[in-house]
Amino acid sequence: MKSETNVYLKQNKAKYNKSNVVLIGFMGSGKSITGKLLAYRMGYSFVDTDVEIEKNYKMKIKDMFAKEGEAIFRQRETETIKRLSQKSHQVISTGGGVATKQEDMDALRQNGVIISLSAYPSTILKRTGNDKRPLLAKKSNEERLKAIVELMAKRAKFYKNADLIVQTDDKTPLQNVETITKYLKGLK
Ligand code: S3P
Repeated sequence: MKSETNVYLKQNKAKYNKSNVVLIGFMGSGKSITGKLLAYRMGYSFVDTDVEIEKNYKMKIKDMFAKEGEAIFRQRETETIKRLSQKSHQVISTGGGVATKQEDMDALRQNGVIISLSAYPSTILKRTGNDKRPLLAKKSNEERLKAIVELMAKRAKFYKNADLIVQTDDKTPLQNVETITKYLKGLK
């Protein structure tokens, strides 16, 4: 008879064999920098959903929100994720809204281990500027912090829905990479 431990290991192995590593988390949680370093460490390719969208539609995300609206951006995000999910051996850094869309997460989960990067609002405030993120484009730091706190509260439950959650506040991207690779090795 199989023990529970064996069953657990088997499930994890199946997950690791899925091959993509997907980073989710709030804006400024460090997905892009951590993802690039992680991909380099693993010998995987690195893709960022925002960069893919900007490349394919030849438009900055900020302009897309302003000219075409958030709904169109979200559709393009879903299309992009469906396409990327077909490939393997990639570290995929997702835009902060992806985790909240069941359809996108289902596609990513089929072939990916989901890692959530987490940070407190005060850390996010320090890490994000006021230029390229339409959802955080506010006049003052106070308003920006308020927007961060409110949006994070709405999304918190989605960011918890991951195989591993990494608290990044007092960590460097390299330390996050160490944590993630250690976890992934444990799945082998
Ligand atoms: C968004 C996050 C952004 C970008 C867009 C919307 C969000 O990506 O996709 O501005 O809804 O949280 P980053 O998380 O890479 O900043």
